[in-house]
Amino acid sequence: MNEKDLTRSEEGGGGTSIMGYPAAAMFKRKGTEFVPYYYDNNGDLKEAVWAPQPGSQVFFLLDTTVEVLYEGTRGPGKTDALLMDFCQEVGKGWGAEWRGILFRQTHPQLRDIIEKSKKWIKRIWPEAIYNEVKTMWEWPTGERLYLPTST
Ligand SMILES: Nc1ncnc2c1ncn2[C@@H]1O[C@H](COP(=O)(O)OP(=O)(O)OP(=O)(O)O)[C@@H](O)[C@H]1O
Ligand SMILES: [Mg+2]
Repeated sequence: MNEKDLTRSEEGGGGTSIMGYPAAAMFKRKGTEFVPYYYDNNGDLKEAVWAPQPGSQVFFLLDTTVEVLYEGTRGPGKTDALLMDFCQEVGKGWGAEWRGILFRQTHPQLRDIIEKSKKWIKRIWPEAIYNEVKTMWEWPTGERLYLPTST
């Protein structure tokens, strides 16, 4: 992912943009996955590793309030949005001050998120390290995301 994918754009680009946020303009099928494309500020269509879907994902990522209730049917992208809500501030200069923790009721549920995080985070930041013992992600810039498998 380049920086534009998860950052607000002043210009908004020439395509789908909600409140200046470059949401995915379209998804193209690649094997079993749907790859997002967005319009950059020059109006060129660019591939991204991950970009929010227009609608609830964009609004969730934009929301700066402390508590947000994000509910819906199965599969609209709540968990992806939760993960990316943390990730959108990585590399912005917060460093070790940027800490996140994600809970799930059961171990298998958390395992799914860990697998999902490995897919997205490694693609976006190959230099980020997942610590299997501490079950946390750590970036060279100091940010940490904890995925505690026992409480
Ligand atoms: N913006 C996106 N770009 C590409 N794939 C996405 C995006 N948002 C979600 N997905 C994919 O869509 C599928 C469903 O998303 P997700 O698991 O986040 O939904 P959910 O709302 O948490 O579902 P559930 O209610 O079952 O927990 C996943 O495979 C996820 O990786
Ligand atoms: Mg979910």
